Amino acid sequence: MHNGKARAFTNIALIKYWGKKDQQLILPMNNSLSLTLDAFYTETSVSFSKDYSHDTFYLDDQLQNEKATQKISHFLDLARKQAGVFEHAIVRSQNFVPTAAGLASSASGLAALAGACNVALGLNLTTKNLSRLARRGSGSACRSVYGGFVEWEKGNSDQTSYASPVASHHWEDDLAMIFILINDKTKDVSSRNGMQRTVDTSLYYNDWLKAANIDIEKARTAIANQDFQALGEVTEANCLKMHATTLAANPPFTYWTPDSLKAMNKVQAMRQAGQNCYFTMDAGPNVKILCQKKDSETIYRELQKDFPSHQLIMAHAGKGIETLEME
Ligand code: DP6
Repeated sequence: MHNGKARAFTNIALIKYWGKKDQQLILPMNNSLSLTLDAFYTETSVSFSKDYSHDTFYLDDQLQNEKATQKISHFLDLARKQAGVFEHAIVRSQNFVPTAAGLASSASGLAALAGACNVALGLNLTTKNLSRLARRGSGSACRSVYGGFVEWEKGNSDQTSYASPVASHHWEDDLAMIFILINDKTKDVSSRNGMQRTVDTSLYYNDWLKAANIDIEKARTAIANQDFQALGEVTEANCLKMHATTLAANPPFTYWTPDSLKAMNKVQAMRQAGQNCYFTMDAGPNVKILCQKKDSETIYRELQKDFPSHQLIMAHAGKGIETLEME
């Protein structure tokens, strides 16, 4: 029996990963830059044993169906191959989210699974190689290996595509991110399918890539200068450009709902009223607000005027991946 357990926190991209040049290896079209957060995390344990005849996957204590288990098995195969161990496994994954709002994150989930496999199979991976392994599960997971600001270097091969921390002199500790959870009743387009459809069909995709390369420079400079306004502006603008590509895809789609727009308008109105805050959104309707810790309580109270408290979650910078003891 080989056991391992790890905890990984989720991350939110300020400069988005949006499109793959290699779907098998999960090599992205552009570099992305994220902030790891403390509010959402996943703890995953894995036990490999020659006594198991198949892989089994429990998520939040629920036995998962074949489709969900297949995805996990696919990832386990990569880890098993690296280790030269060919035993089946039981994977138990627990998502820790402040409310039951369907905020499960593939970033924290796959990073935690990679961390657990690293321990269980004695892979002894460097953080760079752990990031490369997590990337194979879900692109954004490669950034959750580290805390704080993280950049994923797109690279051009399995060897050269991985995330690294962005030096910031702990500036991330002065920041906060407030989530506005928005209920989505429309049918999902997963980030994986959405980004592929965009790469394949969006008229704006090439312009997105050009813009993302410029935006990441701006974000790096803003972090180096600890310039909150510059970081906020490029975060919001980059998100809007990513979402613009979906409208020019075929068939067109959007992750925005009326409540997402209400939240975005609110942020812009707060800014006009002198608050220093900016939004970002991923492949779903939730809106995330980047602000400075010193302003976060005021902004939170202002948001409570338009959104019920159970839809608001305050997050701060989080840590990188951690190994845990098996119970
Ligand atoms: C919009 O990492 O979920 O959140 O690599 O296909 O698993 P796969 O996609 P995923 O995509 C994340 C997209 C995003 C932007 C980002 O996190 O950078």
